[in-house]
Amino acid sequence: MTLAQVPQEANKVPGAPRLEEPATVDLARLIGGWSVPVAIVDREGRVCAWNRGAALLYGRTQENVLGQEWSTLVGEDHMRDSLLSLGPDTRRYETRHRAQDGRILDVMVTRTEMLTHDGGSEGALLLVTDLTASRVMEGRLTRRIAQLSVVREIGEALQSAMDLTGILRTILVGATASQGLRFNRAFLLLVDAKRGDLRGRVAIGPSDAEEAARIWSELSRFETRLKELLRKYEPYFDRAQNRVNEIVRALSVRLEDENRFLVRVVRSMTTVRVVNGVEVGSGRRVEEDLLRSLGVASFVAVPLHAEGKPMGLLLADNAITGKSIEDEDVGILELLGIQAALAIERAQLSGELETQVASLEAATRQIRENHDRLLRAERLSAVGQMAARVAHEIRNPLVAIGGFARLLLRDAPAEGSMRENIQIIASEVRRLETILREVLDFSNPTPPRMGKVDLTRLGHEAVELLRWELREASVAIRFEADEDLPEARADRDQVFQALLNVVQNAIHAMPEGGILSLHARSRPGWLELAVRDTGPGIPHEARARIFEPFFTTKSTGSGLGLTIAQNIFREHGGEIQVDTKEGEGTTFYLRLPAAEDTEHVEDPGR
Ligand SMILES: Nc1ncnc2c1ncn2[C@@H]1O[C@H](COP(=O)(O)OP(=O)(O)OP(=O)(O)O)[C@@H](O)[C@H]1O
Ligand SMILES: [Mg+2]
Repeated sequence: MTLAQVPQEANKVPGAPRLEEPATVDLARLIGGWSVPVAIVDREGRVCAWNRGAALLYGRTQENVLGQEWSTLVGEDHMRDSLLSLGPDTRRYETRHRAQDGRILDVMVTRTEMLTHDGGSEGALLLVTDLTASRVMEGRLTRRIAQLSVVREIGEALQSAMDLTGILRTILVGATASQGLRFNRAFLLLVDAKRGDLRGRVAIGPSDAEEAARIWSELSRFETRLKELLRKYEPYFDRAQNRVNEIVRALSVRLEDENRFLVRVVRSMTTVRVVNGVEVGSGRRVEEDLLRSLGVASFVAVPLHAEGKPMGLLLADNAITGKSIEDEDVGILELLGIQAALAIERAQLSGELETQVASLEAATRQIRENHDRLLRAERLSAVGQMAARVAHEIRNPLVAIGGFARLLLRDAPAEGSMRENIQIIASEVRRLETILREVLDFSNPTPPRMGKVDLTRLGHEAVELLRWELREASVAIRFEADEDLPEARADRDQVFQALLNVVQNAIHAMPEGGILSLHARSRPGWLELAVRDTGPGIPHEARARIFEPFFTTKSTGSGLGLTIAQNIFREHGGEIQVDTKEGEGTTFYLRLPAAEDTEHVEDPGR
């Protein structure tokens, strides 16, 4: 005897399978009023009992379902979890069912076979547990846990990002990446206390759905953790010209405009959610121009603050997907906001510290330089005094020797070694006299008498004066001068002396010939005369010493030429710089301040 052959009282539907076994009939009657969904199927799997709970869950009455094939009826086509055996006749599985109205139900089915006394199957009792609600809950929980761990990861990333840019990027990536909080777009504004405003700094997010699809698909290739993602995200930040960055840069409000939405949120230090242009809670409308610039009417604004001090604002929205912003998204964003504010504060403090350290370093450098200069000045003045004394002592005997030598030369025979020897004495004395003059010039400099000096002309005059030496050494001249060159403010004679020293050195550097180039040009506030030779250059070890008094590599040099030239330029508020390449040549840059047009022109009278 099978279930199908048995007439049963509960079933009055024609053609439906009938319950016959008294125990089964009793069972059907027993379960009838239960709120737990239970159904009984016959051997062929057709429904022959359907209780109140089942009717409620699936939205179908007993009359509608009796005789129908169970798995077709509930749309059970696959099992989500494999069968779990609870005994020889009872199994449990999880699956999805469809209700009358199309709703998908997550259910767990416990199926107990009903056996006849001879061991055959008479059908089965199906107990259904609705898991839909707990599944939703579970999904939420999983997501929440994922988000929390993302916030933790962002926190870690923030710890390691020291500079402000890195921190801002981390915050934005965390708020938008699919591994992060999944907002479509995020904007960061920072308070600038000095300027008294709140200004948009950076933003992230696609400009439109098309770009969103592209970026998200590119980024989804990176199944990575957040830290890795930050690196991969880098190129997207550099597309700083995109729409969101234009938007964020236009977001700027004065902190005193307390009626503006952005200022209100920053000052109130509480998160505000805006839905359809209206603040949730207060019901206040947000300014139209802000909504227009953002291009959305629903977003969330999280104020960033550290130790009661407003730092900035984090705005996030779902402009592309239009997905509504849930309470829990806001909660997580707030968590992110707390970490962000601390990191930003840390970066700003360390930035301030850096500036202070830098200015301290600059001050120390200045002190050291002054100290060096002082030492140098002292040493020079000692050298100068000594040189002046020596020069003074030598001058009179030297004049006498020179006079006698010239006298002797007059009476010497026209030919012979005697005359040659006296000639040597006379020329060496002349050389000594020149050195003596240089030493005296150096040790007893006169203050410059300022006038207007045309550097181009001065260059031509120097070349003219040294024409003979240049020809002797087969040195070619190239002269270049910018047009309409302004005049320099200088003592013409002193600068001319310095220029001669430099040009002479250049000629000495090219005894076998070469090219001497002079270039007079104007620099903002300055005039510059560059003197370039094609000589051997200055060896590295000598470079630091060429301006030292008495440093020379020449058998006939005094080593004072450049010292004097440098002193003259310094006295003028100008400078001499050297640029040299061994084997290629040397350039001396002589720089002087430009004469002001209105300045009274003193006639140097010399
Ligand atoms: N254009 C140059 N190319 C190569 N070396 C140079 C050049 N100008 C200067 N020097 C080096 O710098 C040294 C110092 O130059 P400085 O003009 O002070 O003294 P000097 O030329 O040796 O002697 P003097 O006092 O007679 O000018 C030179 O001896 C030379 O070694
Ligand atoms: Mg010289």
